[in-house]
Amino acid sequence: MIARPRGTRDVLPDEMEERVRAFGALRRVAALYGYGEVETPTFEHADLFIARSGAEVVEQMYTFEDRGGRILALRPELTAPVARMYSSEMRSWAKPLRLCYFGKCYRYERPQKGRYREFTQFGAELIGDDSTAANADLIAMAAASLGALGLGDIVIRIGDLRVLRALLGDRAGPDVMRLVDKKDPALREVVPDVADLILEPRMDEAREAVGREVTADLERLLSYLEGMGVATVVDIGIARGLDYYNGTVFEADAPSLGAEKQVCGGGSYDLGGVVGIEGLKATGFAIGLDRVLLASGRSGPRVGNLDAYVAPLLEAAMGPALSLSATLRQRGVRTEVGLSPERPAKAIKVALEKGATHVVFIGEEELAAGMVAVRDLAGKEQEALTAGEAVARISRE
Ligand code: HAM
Repeated sequence: MIARPRGTRDVLPDEMEERVRAFGALRRVAALYGYGEVETPTFEHADLFIARSGAEVVEQMYTFEDRGGRILALRPELTAPVARMYSSEMRSWAKPLRLCYFGKCYRYERPQKGRYREFTQFGAELIGDDSTAANADLIAMAAASLGALGLGDIVIRIGDLRVLRALLGDRAGPDVMRLVDKKDPALREVVPDVADLILEPRMDEAREAVGREVTADLERLLSYLEGMGVATVVDIGIARGLDYYNGTVFEADAPSLGAEKQVCGGGSYDLGGVVGIEGLKATGFAIGLDRVLLASGRSGPRVGNLDAYVAPLLEAAMGPALSLSATLRQRGVRTEVGLSPERPAKAIKVALEKGATHVVFIGEEELAAGMVAVRDLAGKEQEALTAGEAVARISRE
């Protein structure tokens, strides 16, 4: 047997149902905040990511050469693709532009619970503005999205790379930034003077260390968010793994998830150089949906997705059972039909497992009388009705 590739997942019907519900909830939030949904290709020219995504993401990229000799990559994220799309299709549109997306992403990581090689993101990009107000508006949407997913224990941490870089000075190289990103206690040896401020941030001390002008935007952002009722905490030690960020940065965690608890990340960025528009200001975020769906505590038996089960008890009842099912579905009744003659006890068992409220039997007696037998699974009564009466009864209840 050929197994599923390492780091990928199969989504079974119960989880898929939850995903579809989650997608619906996120689309409603996006509409509320004025975002239009877009889609980009699953693969892009590898250069789109190589320029600004940062060493870690590039190392993890699935890169391949196609038959025409082009070097392509499965997208590790969607910010650069959306910036590319903006640059080629939407340059002349009125700004700021609010775009959102759902998409599969690919990173060759070491898989574990909550960390996969193929995963799904929901993201939003606000293009053409990276002001403090733009970040407040975007972070409020991220918070509303996480809220709509039913995540209770979320912590949103807000930082600012201008503050972090001012603290680190010329020590802000990739190695130190990686330690910062991982909140590694080794920082106490590498940058002893500012390690505490990074590991256990305090706004007043940060202000004192780098000056009021450097922390002003971060402080204003925190006060805007407070005014919008979005609960956040300061975290000067957010470095972000991607290289294109340049100002406000933020992450959200669901502590109940353990090691892979980061469910959302984002911030202000500049990808203008990559897509040929100098000074393109933007801010955005992405939520990792695989983790979020683990956090919202899915699993449990699959129930409640059927209203009626139509059981033919003999071969001659197959035609009437199929027609009755078709009529029930036309009336909006979620219906499954037995595909071969069944025993009534088995039909009831299947119907109950699937959460149906009614079973309709069509046996020899019913065929002879031109009737069907409708059994109410809650009240356990059974009644002989015409097909029309059965449809009216089930679709009304
Ligand atoms: P990111 O932090 O790399 O940012 O990814 C965003 C989210 O995707 C993470 O917080 C996490 O929940 C999820 N995620 C990342 N890697 C994996 C994985 N291997 N398995 C499961 N989930 C994962 C970005 O991708 C940026 N494009 C976000 C952004 C948008 N910044 C500005 N605009």
